[in-house]
Amino acid sequence: MTTRYITTPIYYLNGEPHLGHVYTTIAADVLARYWRLTGAKVKFLVGTDEHGQKVAQAAYAAGESPTTYVDRMSKLFVDMTHKINASNDVFIRTTETRHHEAAQALWKKLVQAGQIYESTYAGWYAVRDEAYIEESEIVEGKAPSGAEVEWMEESSYFFRLSEWERPLLDYYEENPGAIAPVSRRNEVLSFIKGGLRDLSISRTKFTWGISVPDNPQHVMYVWIDALTNYITALGYPNIESKEFKEYWPESLHLIGKDILRFHAVYWPAFLMAAGLRPPKRIFAHGWLTCEGEKMSKSLGNVVDPFKLIETYGLDPVRYFLMREIPFGQDGTYSDMALIQRINSDLANDLGNLVQRVLSFIHKNVGAHLPEPHEILGVDQEILAKAAHLHDLLRDDMEIQALQAYCQHIWEVVAVANRYVDSQKPWALKKSSDPQDRLRMQTVLYVLAEVIRHIAIYVQPLMPESASKILDQLGQKERSFKDLKTPLKSGTSLNEPQPIFPRVEKEKGE
Ligand code: MSP
Repeated sequence: MTTRYITTPIYYLNGEPHLGHVYTTIAADVLARYWRLTGAKVKFLVGTDEHGQKVAQAAYAAGESPTTYVDRMSKLFVDMTHKINASNDVFIRTTETRHHEAAQALWKKLVQAGQIYESTYAGWYAVRDEAYIEESEIVEGKAPSGAEVEWMEESSYFFRLSEWERPLLDYYEENPGAIAPVSRRNEVLSFIKGGLRDLSISRTKFTWGISVPDNPQHVMYVWIDALTNYITALGYPNIESKEFKEYWPESLHLIGKDILRFHAVYWPAFLMAAGLRPPKRIFAHGWLTCEGEKMSKSLGNVVDPFKLIETYGLDPVRYFLMREIPFGQDGTYSDMALIQRINSDLANDLGNLVQRVLSFIHKNVGAHLPEPHEILGVDQEILAKAAHLHDLLRDDMEIQALQAYCQHIWEVVAVANRYVDSQKPWALKKSSDPQDRLRMQTVLYVLAEVIRHIAIYVQPLMPESASKILDQLGQKERSFKDLKTPLKSGTSLNEPQPIFPRVEKEKGE
């Protein structure tokens, strides 16, 4: 059986969940739901990154101890997963005992492998990025991200990252799909080719972290702690377990492009040094921007995703985020664009198709799925288009082309609306020719079959709305393999209800 392990980054707790977090989590959820529908065994992880200086500072600023603070804040992220209907199987917290154990076990493994040594770090550090910054990277006194940097000089353990230059380049050469999109892969390759220096992996100036085994004066650098979460959730250090073997390294790490270096350089190097395989694929998406600037807690320019959901409904927001921005590129959020998508793609195109076809059937053929009679060329054509979605969408998901996934489905929605217009079931109904009545039934059957395909494929994007459509169609079997069995005539239909209301422009103002 195919297995898939999908992860989001684990989120820092220095502020409330914002649209950026929601974006990554929804994208991962769409993929997880899609693969479950293919019959794959899926594990989908979300979680929170609770240690380090940035979180400790946020706790003190809130007047709380780090422990009280992270317990309170991580609940907000668990709530986020519920509010966006994320189907994650795991919500991991780095303050859990199992994670402490896993991070310390990985550390020990690296020590045994001769990959860790003690020395002194003297250089720049950006707390906002939780990153060491090279002198050569400093721009006008700041980190490349614009974060403030501070000079640090302290005793530290180092990881022999410099030894992994060649193995990393070889790995990426042999596995061209390991980093996507291609522009990000190139970025990583040129960073590695520029030379890797050993990495400081412990701190002594604060205590909010996982202690270094055998030297509690040091806490682990938050990134070695955080990255380990992906294997903690699989039971590391028990690498012989069924769980670990099934899911590692069948991993897809979805991340934002801001944390590519940590995932595509440090993480595979740690893993290889510990005798484990690197993650199978890392996909770095772009930033959601607000007037050109990255939306971020630290910059204070965030859009509240929960207000959006309250105003427009969850499924429209989920659809919009996947449809509007090519996954992998930056995209600007705007209320106008969201309203536009809701009114055109959802209300006019999909909503209208479902509503007019199902209410027509309901009113005119007695609330049962009609029987097809003679299938003509035009019917075959549209049925073939719906059937072809299977391969198109499989290929889209394999490369995480989430926008293309939406576009391919909506192409069939458009074809179906044109088919309604050209086949005119209402005119067939009025005709006194009995052949026309039979033709009407065929047309309605074909449409119901096409709508069933669409709704089944829409499930990962808009689970609740798709479920309503399938309920109205009287369909209980909803996975992709069920599409191989033709729609059953005679199935009784539920009363059709409009699913995607239009939005008045004023709502967005
Ligand atoms: N804790 C680290 C990740 C550790 S993973 C082992 C971290 N956390 S974060 O909360 O700052 O951000 C995590 C992720 O949130 C980003 O990589 C990205 O996926 C998402 N986003 C945060 N801001 C975003 C935007 N403005 N736009 C899109 N995604 C954004 O980094």
